[in-house]
Amino acid sequence: MSTSVENRPAATTLAPRQLYEELRRGVLGQDRALRFVAVAVHKHVLGKVSGNILLIGSSGTGKTTIMNNIQRLYDSLEELKAFRAVTILNANLLVDSERTEFRADRLLAAVEQRARLVVGEHPTHAQLAEAIGRATVCIDEIDKMSTLLGGRPNPIGVVLQQGLLTLMEGETLAFRLRAWKEGVECEEVVPIDTRKMMFICGGAFEGLYDQVYNRVAKSGSGERLKTEAVRTADGSVRLETRFSLADYLKMKDLFDFGMVPQFMARFDKVVVLNDLDTGVLKEILLHSVDSPLARTRRYFEAIGIELDIEDLAAGLIAERAAQENRTGARALRDVFAEVVNPVEFDPAREAGEGESLGDRPIIRIDAARVRRVFK
Ligand SMILES: Nc1ncnc2c1ncn2[C@@H]1O[C@H](COP(=O)(O)OP(=O)(O)O)[C@@H](O)[C@H]1O
Ligand SMILES: [Mg+2]
Repeated sequence: MSTSVENRPAATTLAPRQLYEELRRGVLGQDRALRFVAVAVHKHVLGKVSGNILLIGSSGTGKTTIMNNIQRLYDSLEELKAFRAVTILNANLLVDSERTEFRADRLLAAVEQRARLVVGEHPTHAQLAEAIGRATVCIDEIDKMSTLLGGRPNPIGVVLQQGLLTLMEGETLAFRLRAWKEGVECEEVVPIDTRKMMFICGGAFEGLYDQVYNRVAKSGSGERLKTEAVRTADGSVRLETRFSLADYLKMKDLFDFGMVPQFMARFDKVVVLNDLDTGVLKEILLHSVDSPLARTRRYFEAIGIELDIEDLAAGLIAERAAQENRTGARALRDVFAEVVNPVEFDPAREAGEGESLGDRPIIRIDAARVRRVFK
């Protein structure tokens, strides 16, 4: 069995701050959320009962990106090897909508696949069961499993939330596993203990923003909207009402939205993600590990071309993306694709006329190029 000391991570290299810094390479502008995630991961790998987290954020603010980066974190740090069964799945996969039934087996099957990568060849049933039991399970689009949908009861939402809350409380499930026993591979039903799994759920909770705003703005609500003095471009000052969901969200709002109180009680922290402004979008484009720029740069590198971008050009692209305010950072991809397409279409021509770095030609994306595309 592998519960030995060697699997226990070195606490110093895995301090929450270190984990946080690693996560920040791929997730920008969500530092508050990442602090909670870092602490939860830290406790999880020390074998303490970890904090489950619920992420609420508008489309394109980074919910799925945070989950992907948790996976990247575990994959990139050798000390976390034993915990690498990080599984990301969609909430709707966990219910059989025809039979209105919670399908814990589908969750375990997804986790099992990841766990197999951790344990290597010829695992015993116990080794696999242990890796599964230490998994981090990220469940996306959890808001679609509300108990109310368009004002109507949503039975599968009830079933999903109830099923999940039982798992999160800690349950022992009987699960059929194929593994090795005395030199032969065979199937066996083994108990899987979910007590040490960590759960990160995320959703956009569309409609929650308006719902809470209406509650707060209603006269007699006992709450006051904050006002702030803003200086406009022409230099005058005007008072603006600022509403941010994070300032006013109460548990009761989530119950009203259709989340089951006992399910909500299984989360140690509900974090509302920030909306991303132009400044953050620019940072994401320039610096996040998997930004459209980074990907394109890797592509060009592979064909022997250096891709460079002017700071102002990045700012213009971010500004353009910010105008699509319903898709968050997702808009960057589209806007950037528009700008870079001519270069990708005919790189030889674009690279032919400029500077080079050693023998690698440089293609530079400058402000003029961006303006040409969006004139
Ligand atoms: N905070 C962020 N930091 C870095 N990239 C982000 C962030 N938010 C979104 N993105 C980028 O935008 C795209 C959509 O983000 P995603 O996380 O899928 O949004 P959602 O919150 O809707 O799940 C991804 O390609 C991701 O790279
Ligand atoms: Mg998403």
